[in-house]
Amino acid sequence: MSYLSDLDLHRLPRHVAIVMDGNGRWATQRGLPRTEGHAAGEEALFDTVEGALDIGLEWLTVFAFSTENWRRPPSEVRYLMGFNRGLLRRRRDDLHRRGARIRFAGRVDWRVPRSVLREMEISREMTKSNTKMTLTIAFNYGGRTEIVDAVKRVLEDHDRRRLKGERMTPESISSRLYHPDMPDPDLLIRTGGEMRISNFLLWQAAYAELWFTPVYWPDFNRENLYEAIRDYQKRDRRFGRVEDQ
Ligand code: IPE
Ligand code: IPE
Ligand code: MG
Repeated sequence: MSYLSDLDLHRLPRHVAIVMDGNGRWATQRGLPRTEGHAAGEEALFDTVEGALDIGLEWLTVFAFSTENWRRPPSEVRYLMGFNRGLLRRRRDDLHRRGARIRFAGRVDWRVPRSVLREMEISREMTKSNTKMTLTIAFNYGGRTEIVDAVKRVLEDHDRRRLKGERMTPESISSRLYHPDMPDPDLLIRTGGEMRISNFLLWQAAYAELWFTPVYWPDFNRENLYEAIRDYQKRDRRFGRVEDQ
């Protein structure tokens, strides 16, 4: 707990989003198949989630599978589907006990096996009234697709309600994202050393503070989360303004 001592718990980011990257390289480095890296990432995820719950973080979003990850070899995609299904089965009771509300962000399309969708629905339903933290799992998620889906809904609403005169504003889009009630991420973490967004939360991350670490996801833990938050707390978020005179 000593690591907690210099965290200012009154100035936590409200929403932390994480690109959990580097599983494959972690495994390759050890002479293991890439899938072993995904398996080892489970412990990292739950240590991070517990660490977030311990400090009272309200919103945590993790990138588990992108709309581009379908391009991977079928065997890895199949593994990831089964892995995520198992992960929900293994962990949801515990998350529920700890007061986490589990939600998903992404497209429900024919490529996601029905058995996975079922576990997602059970997890969502079981935890929907929890209020301590919202854990959003971005699965079959792509930021561009999310924005396209929002624009489609704007057009549909305009046709249906004959609101052709409604002014288009950023709010027209943000109110039609997958979870309009989700605050924008304040801090966006990416593990694994790459310094890119890879289509994660494109709209919402407009003013997120970015934090990159070379640590591969399976080696990440709550102390790394606290390290990122400590760094975040040193930053000056101006949102385009100038310093107070
Ligand atoms: C992140 O780790 C997990 C997913 C994208 C599902 P990677 O599998 O991308 O690992 P690297 O980046 O190849 O090491
Ligand atoms: C981003 O990681 C997606 C997830 C962590 C789920 P990738 O490994 O897919 O991203 P790129 O291919 O390096 O940009
Ligand atoms: Mg990667």
